[in-house]
Amino acid sequence: MDRTQLTTSADLTREEVDFFMEEAETLRGNNTDDLKGRVVATLFLEPSTRTRLSFEAAAHRVGASVITIADPKTSSVSKGETLADTIRVIEKYADIIVMRHPTAGSAAEAVEYTKKPFLNAGDGPNQHPTQSLLDIYTIKRECGGIDGKTIAFIGDLKYGRTVHSLTYILTLYSPDKIIFISPDELKVPEKYTQMLREKGINFEETSDLNAKMPEIDVIYMTRIQRERFESDAEYNKLKGSYILTPEVVKLGRESLRILHPLPRVDEITPAVDEMPQSACFRQAENGVYMRMALLKNLAKNFYS
Ligand code: CP
Repeated sequence: MDRTQLTTSADLTREEVDFFMEEAETLRGNNTDDLKGRVVATLFLEPSTRTRLSFEAAAHRVGASVITIADPKTSSVSKGETLADTIRVIEKYADIIVMRHPTAGSAAEAVEYTKKPFLNAGDGPNQHPTQSLLDIYTIKRECGGIDGKTIAFIGDLKYGRTVHSLTYILTLYSPDKIIFISPDELKVPEKYTQMLREKGINFEETSDLNAKMPEIDVIYMTRIQRERFESDAEYNKLKGSYILTPEVVKLGRESLRILHPLPRVDEITPAVDEMPQSACFRQAENGVYMRMALLKNLAKNFYS
């Protein structure tokens, strides 16, 4: 494994994903000083709670220091500075760069300007590869494996970058089936269904959640993302399309596990959090261990 940058899930190999999951498990609850003396820059030009803070917690837990831009309004991006100049400068200050950006393709653009370790923390509606690594790790931990499982993505599958990234990673394994459950307006883009066809992964698309509940092993619930719509009217038409309540969850298997990248709005009622099926907050915790594994190993590959 000689990777030093991660911009998309699409170029991850099965060996890499298995390696990062093993590393995350080893680092779980064990702080290290692998990155002592290294500086991690977290450049967040779009709002975040989990990704930024779990990356920063992970950096501290592997011995690094952190410098951050948490709000584009407080950076020179707000004065019109280009992404190219921003990255060229930050790489002079830091040893590893973590970036979230509102524009699809910005991570691929950023790595044209730095060879240093770089991690995409979400580029608009495109990709969120570190989230998908913590998601697959969570599925493995919660369900004992990925092969043979039926995984249902629910909600905003059009703009949901976590859905897009995890779909790529699932193709490295042998799930029994992927079910995409969404309103017609928010169907997963054709490029992903085309990829599943080409790779021979069984999938279906439907809008009927209740009918599918008995056959699902893992629900991957997503938020209808107001910020991705052109108008409030369009968003209001689709918000609340799917809401997981205890009654809906009871239509499924007892072994069902519910994941959500968070933040949620109304798509999982708080009463579901008390059910054993809910794994959302364990999933958020897993993000720290996965990001420790990523920071440690991408830096090791570049600097040793
Ligand atoms: N899951 C996730 O990306 O959450 P944040 O937007 O809070 O980082």
